[in-house]
Amino acid sequence: MKRAQLALLLIPLALALLGLLGLAGIGGVTVARRLQQWAADRQPPANFRVLVHPGFVAEVAAKAAGANIPTVVTFGPDERLYVLDAGGHIFRFQDADGDGLAETQEILYDNPGGRIAHSVGLTFRDDGLMYISYGGHIATLEDSSGDGRLDTLTDIVQGLPTLQFPDHSNNGIAFGPDGKLYVGVGATTDHGPLSDDPYEARILRMNPDGSELETFATGFRNPYDLVFSPAGDLFTSDNNPSEFSRMMPYMPPEEINHVRQGRDYGFPTYYGRPPGDVTWPDVEPPITDLYAAVGSAGITYYAGGPFPEKYHNGLFLAQWGTGANVALDRGISNGQNIIFVSLTPTEDGTFTAEWEVFADFNLGLGNYRPVDVTVGPDGALYVLEWSTATVYRIRYDEEIAARLAAATPTPSPLPAVLPEYPAELVARGEVIYNSGAENTPACVTCHLLDPTMNGLGPSLLGIYRAAGSRVPGLNAEAYVRQSIVEPNAYIVPNYSANYMYQLYGSALRPDQIDALVAYVLTLPEQP
Ligand code: HEC
Repeated sequence: MKRAQLALLLIPLALALLGLLGLAGIGGVTVARRLQQWAADRQPPANFRVLVHPGFVAEVAAKAAGANIPTVVTFGPDERLYVLDAGGHIFRFQDADGDGLAETQEILYDNPGGRIAHSVGLTFRDDGLMYISYGGHIATLEDSSGDGRLDTLTDIVQGLPTLQFPDHSNNGIAFGPDGKLYVGVGATTDHGPLSDDPYEARILRMNPDGSELETFATGFRNPYDLVFSPAGDLFTSDNNPSEFSRMMPYMPPEEINHVRQGRDYGFPTYYGRPPGDVTWPDVEPPITDLYAAVGSAGITYYAGGPFPEKYHNGLFLAQWGTGANVALDRGISNGQNIIFVSLTPTEDGTFTAEWEVFADFNLGLGNYRPVDVTVGPDGALYVLEWSTATVYRIRYDEEIAARLAAATPTPSPLPAVLPEYPAELVARGEVIYNSGAENTPACVTCHLLDPTMNGLGPSLLGIYRAAGSRVPGLNAEAYVRQSIVEPNAYIVPNYSANYMYQLYGSALRPDQIDALVAYVLTLPEQP
């Protein structure tokens, strides 16, 4: 990991400290201003792309220029796109021609006096009133002067536990079908034990004026965001411990929970689903485990729309990715993607769930992290990227999808034998395949070696059988070489051009490409 990337990862921690000191403090103002320039000036490199499945298109819909640590993307009752950052700035975008891509941005609220710090929740009541969740507080924001900008911040709840453990605070907010406002609150510790704070590590609800604040469900470590389905089911994602405490023998999974009133979800005693037939007393297991340290962030529900039917009535979750300390200490790097979670109702009124990667921000080209996700009025998915404050729209393009479906797969009947190459050459190819070289992304990012998983590129396991018959006149070796140096020369059926990384031909040396060809052609059907 480069030093600059590391510095970037430390920013949430810096922000947490800022929150403790108070952003309005004398030292805080300069730091806040410096942070403000940071996201505004950042651009992803020209070859950065969000990887999506065939038939989907990812494009830049908006960029919150001036945002520092963006946290929320959502649509308002005016059907316009809003972005909130952790420093209490609220941005609104205008898409006058209705193509889903914003032309102009305005700053609706710039946090005068610096009252807001660590703002990570934003929602609207049915009548359009805006609510914000920030360090220790829930508040409404209104335009009292009628000049079109927000000017009146009214706290309706104060004193929630905030930043007693770095980054844990009151988080995302959502209105339930009962008209009450729900908020997830993080624990005051990494892995327990809990303090005697009556509001930590749980989901609370309250009347829209903040009265009758009460516990709805307990046992969460840091429920970062929550969402209601149209049927009134509440879902949240829960982060797992990140401290590399010697007391944690392993990194437990993160969770998605179906939250029901009065139930306990296990923290700090239980993590993930119980093994085998075991049941835990009085503890609701998650509907699915996620990988450890994926950094579960914003969550949304896709009820229906232009996406293919398999995505209807499911969840999309932004996984921010593994933080720097865990990545260094544990040697893992998970997340940095959007997953789709399919839900299957069970007889006892809850769900089981399975997830798969829907969009990937981790091409190995830098530190790009989705932090929130929402569904637009057009039925597309809008994803907020944290390090550049860019909103990507991911839409489904029926025309492209139809064209791909019409392509007939090339038959691959050859009873080919697994070719032989010098072991040393194959070994060098394996390293490049799994780790990349010369600043190019690793092949395994898209061509997974696990036959049970659906990657963003076709599986190359057993490719030696098909390679020689893909393109008339190209033998297996020539074909694989061409696939690497000139990916668009032949497009594998059901995939589309430009999905594969295009610059291997110029970035890699000939001997590196030779090694890759040898490795790819000796991949057996079963690893
Ligand atoms: C960003 C994702 C991505 C990366 C990274 C990537 N590929 Fe691909 N690759 C694809 C996609 C998508 C296709 C299918 C579309 C096409 O034919 O271009 C493909 C096709 C191929 C094929 C043809 C497979 C077939 O069934 O005929 C080969 C071989 C291949 N890639 C090898 C590689 C190697 C080797 C690397 C690493 C040096 C690599 N790819 C990196 C996405 C990727």
